[in-house]
Amino acid sequence: MDKKEAITQVFDLVATKYDNPSLRFFPFCADKLIDYAKIKPRHKVLDIATGTGVVAMAAAQCLGNGGRVQAIDLSENMLQQAQKKIEHAGLDNVDFHVMDAEQLVFKSNYFDVITCSYGLFFMPDMHSALKSWLRVLKPGGKIIFSSFAPTAFQPLSDIFINNLTEYDIVPPTPSWLQLAEENLCKQILTDNGFETAQVAQAQLGYHLAKFDDWWEVIQSAGYRGLYEQLPQGHRVEFKEKHRVEIEKQLTDKGIWMDVQTLFSMAMKPV
Ligand SMILES: C[S@@+](CC[C@H](N)C(=O)[O-])C[C@H]1O[C@@H](n2cnc3c(N)ncnc32)[C@H](O)[C@@H]1O
Repeated sequence: MDKKEAITQVFDLVATKYDNPSLRFFPFCADKLIDYAKIKPRHKVLDIATGTGVVAMAAAQCLGNGGRVQAIDLSENMLQQAQKKIEHAGLDNVDFHVMDAEQLVFKSNYFDVITCSYGLFFMPDMHSALKSWLRVLKPGGKIIFSSFAPTAFQPLSDIFINNLTEYDIVPPTPSWLQLAEENLCKQILTDNGFETAQVAQAQLGYHLAKFDDWWEVIQSAGYRGLYEQLPQGHRVEFKEKHRVEIEKQLTDKGIWMDVQTLFSMAMKPV
């Protein structure tokens, strides 16, 4: 199975669990990203790696007549959830497409704004992806993407990884670390033809009430791919060992989940 098939499989698996309170940083991020995007009523917006459509939906609500959102993802199940939410909200200005972000089929110089929330670091070749995103953006159009800072999910993430290594699972370095520093984000934008790159940061973290909320984070998003590598016979034991370690982080406020986020934005030269 190649990397994209593996990603698609994980997100297809978690799609119906993805919009849950433990993962509320996704909509928090969407709101901030849309603030930075400064969408105007007639804009054409492309939301890349839309998932269950949190950013697409926030963008759609900023648009008026003539404005429209195209939202793409590899995972059909994530898009099904997104479509349901859009219908439930009574919005009719978003089109969802199963499409690889590295092989966009949109015409050149078409979009006013491209958004991508926690998606770029999944691309096997981020540089070629960004070049193709630049192609479909209008001259003067804006790109904005979010990524995680190195402190995001720490120390919970390291505890999870350490517990997994006891079962001979050796997780790769998280792909998001490629975009975890301001200079890396600015550089990749500039290297691929964008100008006026800027990066802002925000802490989108919160306290989880109990271990089960952290477990929900693991089961409902990208960490699920690592968990799935555990043989069935070890899963109950793993969960209990992991519970003991995570509960050491419990304070009277709960378990802090850091979600320090970078917002990187730039323009296509006119
Ligand atoms: C962490 S989720 C983020 C979803 C959404 N943007 C949000 O903030 O809630 C990452 C998404 O990227 C999608 N994805 C990963 N690689 C992709 C690719 N090459 N093309 C399109 N979507 C991709 C996954 O299927 C998944 O839905």
